[in-house]
Amino acid sequence: MKMQPGTDIQLAKTLLLQGELVAIPTETVYGLAANAFNGNAVAKIYSIKNRPQFNPLIIHTDKLEKLAEWGINLPEQALVLAKQFSPGPLTYVVKKSAFIPDIVTAGHDSVAVRIPNHPLTLRLLEQLEFPLAAPSANPSGFISPTTAQHVFEQLGSKIPYILDGGPCIVGLESTIISFVSERPALLRLGGLTVEDIESVLGSSLDKSLLINNDNPLSPGMLSRHYSPAKKMVIGNVADYLDNYSTDKIAVIHFSEPDVFLPETNQFILSPNADLNEAAQKLFAVMRQADKLDVEIIIADEFPGTGLGNAINDRLRRASVL
Ligand code: TXA
Ligand code: MG
Repeated sequence: MKMQPGTDIQLAKTLLLQGELVAIPTETVYGLAANAFNGNAVAKIYSIKNRPQFNPLIIHTDKLEKLAEWGINLPEQALVLAKQFSPGPLTYVVKKSAFIPDIVTAGHDSVAVRIPNHPLTLRLLEQLEFPLAAPSANPSGFISPTTAQHVFEQLGSKIPYILDGGPCIVGLESTIISFVSERPALLRLGGLTVEDIESVLGSSLDKSLLINNDNPLSPGMLSRHYSPAKKMVIGNVADYLDNYSTDKIAVIHFSEPDVFLPETNQFILSPNADLNEAAQKLFAVMRQADKLDVEIIIADEFPGTGLGNAINDRLRRASVL
């Protein structure tokens, strides 16, 4: 029988100590967590998500001091950011230590670490003497979950417990920065804006490692990810009316509805054009649109400032065929 999501931290802790998986809330998206020091437990993450073995995991803890005890030290520039932004939606890729099993980092000599900003999960992490390895709690390639119910629908029968921390406040995965070279490099756009990071660093990030930059030369350069099952595109509805009848189109708009489409198939992410609100709702709305009886989902291109860049990144990846 599937166990309903709940808020029992002690149960979560017991299961994690036994090498079981628990879904945990964070401010970005829900994670599928295992004791990062237990290679067998971490192996379950890869098999349940159907995740390629070469894709490394982020480890989560509540304090930088714990990372130091495990031999993981943040370089100076990472510490500057951590002071300002952790706990928060920022992940640091730094030199790995021998404490971290190779399965966590998929054999890389670097490890990704994050202190998530969610009260329930921080209370759980405080009680643990090991970090939690946790990718987003979705089948590989699909949209990340931003509510406990999203996790329950897809993984409820495969994992013993889901900690329910309510809807995620940020709604996009963390921004990832690598500190393995001299100059910090942006690896993934996410819930903390590049503008905020660069202003605290006082210098610009190296963006050459970003697979999915703002102007991809061809969509083939992007890997399909964060995807609904239905065909999805970024663009104007008017360009699709020759090929689709209006009742077979769902739209995801930033702030303004389309006058010539039925209201039921339209999602407005933020009537006040607030990018934070749009980001928070995006994944839940993509799931809803995917369940409608439509043939295509058409999303707006978002403004290229603040979280608009991360939103566009997710929409582009969802649109890759
Ligand atoms: O907000 C988040 O980051 C969420 C929550 C649960 O913390 N987690 C998340 O995990 O999005 P996941 O596994 O879906 O994405 C982690 C990304 C992957 O693209 C992976 O390749 C990258 O982090 N990554 C992990 N370790 C890395 C490393 N050592 N070097 C470079 N990239 C790494
Ligand atoms: Mg993911």
